[in-house]
Order: sequence, then C-alpha cells, then structure tokens
Amino acid sequence: MKKSVTVDRDKCVHCGMCIRDCIVNCLRFDDEKIPGYTPDGSEKCVACQHCFAVCPTGALSFGGKNPADSCDAGYGDSGELLRLIQSRRSVRFFREQDIPAETMDKLIAMLAFPPRGGNADSLHFSIVGTAEKMRALAQFTRETIQAMDKGSPVIEFCRDNYNKGIDFIYRGAPSLVAVSVNKARAVAGCENADPIIALSYLDLYAQSLGLGTLWSDCTLTVANALPGVKAKLKIPAGFELNYVMLLGLPAVKYKRTVQREPANVNII
Ligand SMILES: Cc1cc2nc3c(=O)[nH]c(=O)nc-3n(C[C@H](O)[C@H](O)[C@H](O)COP(=O)(O)O)c2cc1C
Repeated sequence: MKKSVTVDRDKCVHCGMCIRDCIVNCLRFDDEKIPGYTPDGSEKCVACQHCFAVCPTGALSFGGKNPADSCDAGYGDSGELLRLIQSRRSVRFFREQDIPAETMDKLIAMLAFPPRGGNADSLHFSIVGTAEKMRALAQFTRETIQAMDKGSPVIEFCRDNYNKGIDFIYRGAPSLVAVSVNKARAVAGCENADPIIALSYLDLYAQSLGLGTLWSDCTLTVANALPGVKAKLKIPAGFELNYVMLLGLPAVKYKRTVQREPANVNII
C-alpha cells in the first residue's frame, strides 16, 4: 500500500490521537497543529493505519483511503463468538461441490485483516479453488506415492489408507488453502506466528460461513516430502510453505458443542 497521510484541515480537531497511537512515532504536528509525517516518517511507517482508525472525526486519510468507506468499528456479540469457537469442529467429510464464488470472495477479502508482526507483508496464500482441481491434485499425489518404493512413516500411513479406500491427505475436500511465509519480510520472531494467526482467523470465519475446515498436518507433511506436490501449490519464490487447511461444504453436521476439561492455566 502507498504510504501517505493527508489531513482534512476543516475536520481535524487537533486531538493528537493519531500521533499518540502511532507505534513507530512517525507522526507529528506542524505549526498549525495539523498532523503529518516526521521527516523520516514515511520510511518508518508500517502502514498499520492506526492513525486512520483512531481519528475521531475522519479527518485523516491514509494511502488515499476515504474514512467514509470504512465500516464503523464493531466487536460483535461475545456470546455468539464463544459459541462459534466451541462449535467449530475439524471436518473430515466434505460435499463434492465447489465453495460458492461469493463465499470464496469473502474468505479472500478477510485474509487481508489478520494481524502480522510489524504489519509486515509476510504471507502468501495458495488456494486450490475447485473440486476438479483438488481431484487432479489428489490423483497426482496418489500416483506419486504409489510410484515410490518406500517413503517416510507418514507416506506409508497414507499408502495404507489408500489401500483402505481413504484419502487421508485431502479427505475429498473441494478446496485447500496453503499459507506460506517470506522470512526475509517477516519481523524476526514472527515468522511462525503470522501464518498460523491468519489460518486461525480463516478457520473461524470459514465455519461462520457454513464451511468445514481441517488443519491438516498430514497434507503439510506430504507436500514437504514430495516436491512435485508442493510445486502444484505455486508458492512464489522467497516464500516457504508453513501450513495447510482443507475446506469445503461439510458432509457432516455437529449437533452440539463438545465439553472440554478446563485449559491448563497458571494465574501469576
Ligand atoms: C495443527 C493441527 C494439525 C492437525 N492435523 C490433522 C491431520 O493431519 N489430520 C486430521 O485428520 N486432523 C488433524 N487435525 C485435527 C485435530 O485432530 C483436531 O483438531 C482435534 O482432534 C480436536 O477436534 P476438533 O478440532 O473437532 O475440536 C489437526 C489439528 C491441528 C490444530
């Protein structure tokens, strides 16, 4: 995103909230108490848009964005959110049907919003978007495994499951999302958190849209073990595969939430 801060002088109330909320101190008042970048502000700016979001009057535009085009900030219903978290299940049976295009568009639009350390542009999402493309990927994977002499325990486990008529790798899902990370772009220490946070948001949002999801260690391990399979995900140069989630319309319906033992918590 283009980094720029412009302020509507008529709307600015000179409260300084934008300056105070800036994580990298890249804003300051000018002589007329109008906020703008410091001399090295645009260099330091991480484009988090806190200045834009916090401005009480919508006076500040970031990157040419019009504050009127934003939604009013809202935090939803905590009870409904908890019910979603409790109701979300790992889905292992899917309808052989593409995810509707408008649902896919919503998922893709959401992926711009999960937080990343330092607001870095660290992630890439490879989406296998149709049941037909998934069938082709599943067939290629199966043929690759069947042509191998002997693989790792996970590969042998998948081969055994093929023999039992089960595709443990893709589960018949009509879609998958593979998240990869560019470690040079990620803030040091955030390389593993950024992709998992993004998929966690996707997990909950997808389930709220009526989709089933499966975090799939098996798919990840197989993609890492078989370069031909990983190549099909078209991960751009400089990015490393981090995790894979299967998704699609579920062919199983859970009637009630599970009842977990309390989490291990230590209050200090
Ligand atoms: C990081 C991660 C990797 C997982 N990998 C697999 C997998 O490869 N295959 C599978 O069937 N389930 C996988 N699961 C699903 C877990 O088995 C599941 O989350 C757990 O049994 C609890 O069930 P629930 O998600 O429905 O609450 C994975 C879950 C997570 C969080």
